[in-house]
Amino acid sequence: MPLLLPANADSISLAAKRLAEGHLVAFPTETVYGLGADTFNVRAIANVYAAKGRPSDNPLIAHVYGVDQARSLCADWPETADVLAAAFWPGPLTLVLPRSPHVPAAATGGRATIALRSPRHPVAQSLLRAFGGPISAPSANRSGHVSPTVAAHVARDFDAIDDLLILDGGACELGLESTVVSLDINPRHPRPRILRPGSITAAQLATVIGPVDQPTITTQADSPGTAHRHYAPRTPALVLTLDEILAHLRTGARAIILAIHPIPAPHRVIPMPGDPSGYAARLYAALREADDLGADVILIQRPPDAPLWLAVHDRLARAASSR
Ligand code: TXA
Ligand code: MG
Repeated sequence: MPLLLPANADSISLAAKRLAEGHLVAFPTETVYGLGADTFNVRAIANVYAAKGRPSDNPLIAHVYGVDQARSLCADWPETADVLAAAFWPGPLTLVLPRSPHVPAAATGGRATIALRSPRHPVAQSLLRAFGGPISAPSANRSGHVSPTVAAHVARDFDAIDDLLILDGGACELGLESTVVSLDINPRHPRPRILRPGSITAAQLATVIGPVDQPTITTQADSPGTAHRHYAPRTPALVLTLDEILAHLRTGARAIILAIHPIPAPHRVIPMPGDPSGYAARLYAALREADDLGADVILIQRPPDAPLWLAVHDRLARAASSR
């Protein structure tokens, strides 16, 4: 069983010590919980991949305390990186840049680039400061499963891993993973481009660095972690309009419904917030609850088609894509 401790000065300094000794530490960020290891310890990094059941070619995000640490991990730090970091760090933005040769390739899934993020959650920041180096951390869920937004989700996904300390910092404020932007500019990709949508939108990025590409479906080779089925509950899920949900219910299916609008009794409904940030913060916990309720299918009411819902639509499409 992992060791779960409330995040405070003592548990954070214990966590920093355990990272330095090559152990794994799960910690809260403003997006989701991360499963962290010392970026420079290839054994610890291998344990992150093993614990998650993550394919070894899916690269990790290195969490950094600030710009200086980020720079030290890159072969090139363009001006756009400075501008984006000044505007959005610490915060839910991950930058992909050419990797410095002294960073172990294992920490980036063998890629020539490295993803970097400076989180703004106070526990993540204290841990980074106490540890004194970068912490590579994917979301703290089993590979392909729904990301964790509370410590109990982490404890459940990794109940068989003894070598894990989980810092409990309560529920994550944003609830969806960071926006990932590639600044690895080359002839094929002459402009910065979004690899994974998040709460920081293309429009917000464009206000500081100009036009940003946003491919509709990221190909697996570009960002392996965005492979189609992902962020998925164990129960099959469908994203439908309210009318389609009502039609589906008439078939007699044993369904759980994630609905923004009221659904007439006697159906089992998990009510969802009607605003994009409230919805995002609730989504992963709701998917896990739906799984636990035991049903043949999870019916998810399709949220509005508006730019602020883009990251939610992205995650719903992956949660609902067939196996
Ligand atoms: O909000 C977040 O980003 C959370 C918290 C813990 O920081 N982390 C997270 O990590 O979501 P993970 O590993 O679950 O997702 C990282 C994503 C994956 O889609 C991965 O393929 C992509 O970032 N990525 C990481 N390094 C990359 C690289 N060098 N090039 C392209 N994509 C990369
Ligand atoms: Mg993940």
